[in-house]
Amino acid sequence: MTQSLAERAVEVLMTADGRAKTALGRRHAAEWLAARAAGTPLPIGQASPPLRPARPDAPELLSPRDMPRRRPGSTMGRNALLHAVAHIELNAVDLHWDIIARFTHVPMPLGFYDDWVRAADDEAKHFNLMCDCLEAAGSHYGALPAHAGMWRAAEDTVDDLFGRLAVVPMVLEARGLDVTPGMIAVFEKAGEAGPVEALKTIYSEEVSHVAYGSKWFNWLCGRDGLDPKDTFHSLVRRYFHGVLKPPFNEEKRADAGLPPDFYWPLTEPETDGFPPENS
Ligand SMILES: [Fe+2]
Ligand SMILES: [Fe+2]
Repeated sequence: MTQSLAERAVEVLMTADGRAKTALGRRHAAEWLAARAAGTPLPIGQASPPLRPARPDAPELLSPRDMPRRRPGSTMGRNALLHAVAHIELNAVDLHWDIIARFTHVPMPLGFYDDWVRAADDEAKHFNLMCDCLEAAGSHYGALPAHAGMWRAAEDTVDDLFGRLAVVPMVLEARGLDVTPGMIAVFEKAGEAGPVEALKTIYSEEVSHVAYGSKWFNWLCGRDGLDPKDTFHSLVRRYFHGVLKPPFNEEKRADAGLPPDFYWPLTEPETDGFPPENS
């Protein structure tokens, strides 16, 4: 029997090793996209994604305040930066397969699945690019501690597709657009061409992930007769911990369909006169 897309997504989520996870995900993505191009789409199906994806034993996961601070001017600091990006990309692989498997009860056009399969495939490429850079520098993914709590956004929005789209692509991935040019500058200054190229690839491909988020968020709001901007504000305030931090990459955010009146009001704490909700 043909393995459904949801079953394939869960298989990726249950694979612990990063290189093995991304290789499997890329194979499933190629098969999904080939079947779509042939006009014979694979079934979406249903599956039970784990609350947390399988991960390798290393890196050790630490709370942000326990993470060692390293200067980006040093080789060690630049390695730590690549390691942090590799960790973000591996989380992104799982986040995209998770949105595919988690919300199959919500009727969505096949284009929704095309977009997240493509995004998952991009993230697999990005993780491998970062691993290649680390290995070229004599290190590897798992050599340093990494940020715990990156999966929190997924757990917080486990039963809310609107909230998942608002927080993951439209807040977290949009933040990537803000900070990546600064990272590219660090490696340019150090004259390290490999990481510069890899980060430029990541930067150019991330715009589409934010765009997929805003496209499907707006689509869902339109289906349900909700105001997208007001809905976005209330969901981010509910699920995202803290305020958004400028400076924003206004140009790339615009390319991705994120207007300023979506994110600027979220740089301020809520001022409706009510105390914050208990969480
Ligand atoms: Fe990425
Ligand atoms: Fe992404």
